[in-house]
Amino acid sequence: PAALTRLVADNLREIPDFPEPGVLFRDITPLLANGPAFSELIDGLAEHYRGRIDAVAGLESRGFILAAPLAVRLGIGMLTVRKGGKLPGPVIGVDYALEYGTARMELRPETVRAGDRVLIIDDVLATGGTAAASIELVERAGGSVEAICMLLELAELGGRAHLGGRGVDAVVVY
Ligand code: PRP
Ligand code: HPA
Repeated sequence: PAALTRLVADNLREIPDFPEPGVLFRDITPLLANGPAFSELIDGLAEHYRGRIDAVAGLESRGFILAAPLAVRLGIGMLTVRKGGKLPGPVIGVDYALEYGTARMELRPETVRAGDRVLIIDDVLATGGTAAASIELVERAGGSVEAICMLLELAELGGRAHLGGRGVDAVVVY
């Protein structure tokens, strides 16, 4: 929805050369610190996904900030897709390349109910590695990825191409 796009775009901050030279970092902390804006964002997302999903998967760590209030608002569970080594076992994991560095995401498959329609949510879609790994984890755990929601899509990094032709609900695209 256009109102959400404006809400997010108006509450971001752009920082050149963070966390390393050449990267233009889009910072969501002003949005989170703006109580009415944060609340309106979660309300808007809840309205959009209500009745369509059974669980919300947040991607550590900024995805957690969005997934938790959305899950509570919808009265459904939250799944934590975490960086390697953080979750107690049994876990499943996927290694992948990041915009800067390499990483591994893990999920406790026991937290996914067979056939649940899962929304994957995160703040930024960059190269798509984190989202692709998370899709694989949810599916290997027996869930069905119903939608992927990103506050920001950095289109020039081509993340969508790594998501197997799935659609992405991007609130703001750069
Ligand atoms: C950022 C961002 C996404 C991911 C996107 O997380 O929050 O999760 O990178 O990049 P990709 O599309 O290239 O995979 P980061 O690893 O910086 O972790 P944080 O949320 O803990 O700050
Ligand atoms: N902003 C915030 N998070 C990110 C970015 C960015 O530009 N790229 C990868 N993760």
